[in-house]
Amino acid sequence: MDNSDQTLGKSLLDVLSGKSSDNPFPLFTQMRGMGSVVPIPFSMGGINHQAWVVTRMEETMQVLKDHTHFTVDRRSIVSSSAIEKNTDPSASSTFLTESMNAVDDPDHRRLRTLVSKAFTPRYMEGLRPRVQQIADELLDGVQTQGKMDIVKDYAYPLPINVISEMVGVPESDRRKIHVWSEAIANGLGLGRHDPGIEEHLQAFSSYFMRLVAEKRQHPADDLISQLIAIEEEGDRLSEVELLSLIKLLIFAGHETTSNLIATGTLMLLDHPEQLEKLKTDLSLIPPTVEELLRFNGPITIAGPRYATKDIEIAGQQIKKGDMIIPLVKSANRDEHQFVQPQELDITRKIKRHLAFGYGIHMCLGAPLARIEGDIALTTLLRRMPNLQLSIPRENVNWQSKLASHGLSSLPVVF
Ligand code: HEM
Repeated sequence: MDNSDQTLGKSLLDVLSGKSSDNPFPLFTQMRGMGSVVPIPFSMGGINHQAWVVTRMEETMQVLKDHTHFTVDRRSIVSSSAIEKNTDPSASSTFLTESMNAVDDPDHRRLRTLVSKAFTPRYMEGLRPRVQQIADELLDGVQTQGKMDIVKDYAYPLPINVISEMVGVPESDRRKIHVWSEAIANGLGLGRHDPGIEEHLQAFSSYFMRLVAEKRQHPADDLISQLIAIEEEGDRLSEVELLSLIKLLIFAGHETTSNLIATGTLMLLDHPEQLEKLKTDLSLIPPTVEELLRFNGPITIAGPRYATKDIEIAGQQIKKGDMIIPLVKSANRDEHQFVQPQELDITRKIKRHLAFGYGIHMCLGAPLARIEGDIALTTLLRRMPNLQLSIPRENVNWQSKLASHGLSSLPVVF
C-alpha cells in the first residue's frame, strides 16, 4: 500500500466510523478505481488487523454468499476462548453479538426460521392499511402548518411506530426507545464503541427484560408473545436469544427505513425532473424506491465478514482471520453493472442492488421496508405535491451512525 492508498483507506475509515459525514461517493469511486478488493489499515482495540474493502458488486456477492470461506462471527475463527458466547440475558449488547445477524448456521437458520414466520410477504401486505393510517395521521399533524421537518415529523415516527406495534412495545414507551436507540447508533461505528453508550445499552436492555416479563404474565397478539410461546415450548430459543432478537428487530427495523424515507425525499428534491415525472405518475413509486435504495440507500456496509480460510479474490491474497468489509453503497454504483450509475433514474430497470445485502443474512425486513417506503413517499407526494426544502441545500446535515448514513433533519415547506 503506498501513501495515497493509505490516505484513501484512512478517509474511508473516517466515513465508516462516523467521524466524517461528507458526501462519500467520490471516495467510493476512487476506491473502485483501485480495485474490487482493496486493503485498508485497520486497528481494533489497539491491535492491527488486515482489512479489505470490497468495492464492486460481483465480488461483494461472492463474499456474502460464500459461507465456506467467510463468517459473520469472528469467535468461530479465534482459537483462544478470549471471546466467548454471551449467555447472560441481562448483558446489554447481546443483540449485536448473539442475534441472527451475528451468528452462522445452524444457529442462524434456526433463529431466522423462527422469526420468518412473522415476516412473510403476505403478513407484510396485511400491514398496508395500518401503515397508511400512521402515515396519514403524521401528515394530519402538520398539514395546516405548511411546514415540517421530514425526519422528525414523518420519516422517523412512521417506521418506529410500525415495528413497535408489530413487536408489542406500548405507544407510551416509544419516545424512550427513540432516545436509547439514537444514542446507541450514534455511539457505534466500525471499530468504534463510545463508552458513553453503555448506560443507554443497559437501559434499552433492562426495558426489554421488563417488557418480556410482563408479556409472560399477560400475552397479547404481538411478536414478543409469539416468541415467548416458542421459548417456553423447549429447546428452540433460549432466553438470551429471545431478548436479542426482539432488540435487533426494534433496532434494525426503524433507523434504516427512516433513512430511506428522508434521504429518498431529499434525493428526489435534488432531481426535480425525476420528481416531476414521479408526481405525474405515482405508479412509478415501486421502481423509484428500488432506485433510491440503489442510488443512496441507508446502509453503507454490510456487517464485516472474517475469512475462515485463505482465499484469493480479484487477485488479492486474503488470509484466514482477515476482515472483509462489503461496501454495498459502492457496489450499488458499480460501473460494470449499471449504465450511468451516478445518475438517479426512477425508470431504471434494476436487475439487482445490494442495499438489503445478499445471501443468508439478506435483510429479513426488506418486504416491510419496501411497503413503508412505498406508502410514505406516495402519501407525501399525493398530499404535499409542492414540497420544497426550506433551508439552503448546503445546510442540510448528514449523520453517520453504525453502518448507516442519513440526515439529522430535513426542513421543508409545502
Ligand atoms: C430500508 C430499510 C432497510 C435496509 C436498507 C436494511 C438493510 C439490511 C442489510 C444490508 C442487512 C444485511 C446485513 C449483513 O449481511 O451483514 C440487513 C439485515 C437485517 N435486517 Fe434490515 N434493512 C432495512 C430494514 C429492516 C427492517 C424494517 C427490519 C425489521 C423489521 C430489518 C431487520 C433486519 C434483520 C433482522 C437483519 C438480519 C438478517 C440475518 O442476519 O439473517 N431490516 N438489513
